[in-house]
Amino acid sequence: MNWRALFKPSAKYSILALLVVGIVVGVVGYFATQQTLHATSTDEFCMSCHSNHSLKDEVLASAHGGGRAGVTVQCQDCHLPHGPVDYLIKKIIVSKDLYGFLTIDGFNTQEWLDENRKEQADLALKYFRSNDSANCQHCHTRIYEDQPETMKKMAKRMHANNFKKDADKRKTCVDCHKGVAHVYPKG
Ligand code: HEC
Ligand code: HEC
Ligand code: HEC
Ligand code: HEC
Repeated sequence: MNWRALFKPSAKYSILALLVVGIVVGVVGYFATQQTLHATSTDEFCMSCHSNHSLKDEVLASAHGGGRAGVTVQCQDCHLPHGPVDYLIKKIIVSKDLYGFLTIDGFNTQEWLDENRKEQADLALKYFRSNDSANCQHCHTRIYEDQPETMKKMAKRMHANNFKKDADKRKTCVDCHKGVAHVYPKG
């Protein structure tokens, strides 16, 4: 075969045919990426690095573990955003954890988590504060308006008072609710 033929403009295939091939490759690539992103969003994926940490057991033991309502909330429901662009950006941040995983001495041990819990919790809280606890609000849609009859009086009052404030003075869910899935360190 003549190598130079590779670089010559195609005479054999029409532009249309090339376009179709391009689109097919693009679509396949798109779905392959979606699959990968989906696979990287399961609890198993998170726990592959955090496997010796008590995080999953803590979730199961919490109100988010499915005791009363039978809903087990997944890691990504709370920790990863829902919008596709934000999701990708957060994924890239999570992929930085790969570096930490390889370089932090004793990372995947319970001792490490116990010792660094406060610092890690505050990093996690920073994300919730950055978007007004959007992940929480994604499920808890009736906290501020249209509150359910069954909600405790005290909770209704606290939520209503908070909602009355100017948007920039309002607290966000995790300001008042810490440790809803893990043990938030005291002090
Ligand atoms: C490649 C290994 C790895 C995977 C996979 C992984 N993590 Fe982590 N994670 C780490 C490491 C390492 C740290 C500590 C990072 C640091 O302090 O530098 C960490 C810290 C965290 C923190 C606290 C710090 C912060 O920035 O919020 C949260 C929350 C967290 N991971 C949640 C998750 C969730 C949810 C998943 C699944 C979507 C996940 N992790 C998957 C390695 C991993
Ligand atoms: C995937 C949906 C989902 C997400 C995300 C979620 N929750 Fe929940 N939450 C629930 C369910 C379901 C219950 C259990 C309701 C019940 O037991 O009746 C619950 C219960 C609670 C309770 C009551 C706890 C108790 O002890 O009775 C609080 C407070 C709460 N969630 C706050 C939060 C906060 C804060 C966040 C974000 C960090 C959050 N939730 C994220 C679904 C969710
Ligand atoms: C100003 C503080 C404050 C803010 C902000 C706040 N809460 Fe609450 N919330 C409370 C208090 C206090 C209670 C009642 C005590 C309890 O059950 O923990 C409560 C109770 C709840 C309950 C349980 C209700 C029941 O009847 O058992 C849920 C669920 C809840 N909050 C979710 C949220 C979510 C989601 C957000 C963010 C959209 C939020 N809260 C924002 C203070 C707050
Ligand atoms: C209901 C929401 C929710 C679920 C489900 C959840 N987390 Fe968290 N996570 C939080 C919040 C809120 C914090 C911030 C600290 C706090 O309030 O306890 C946090 C903190 C963390 C931290 C920092 C260390 C710590 O304990 O504070 C890690 C690591 C973490 N989560 C990983 C996970 C993994 C892995 C899963 C799945 C097995 C998971 N989380 C499930 C809400 C959740």
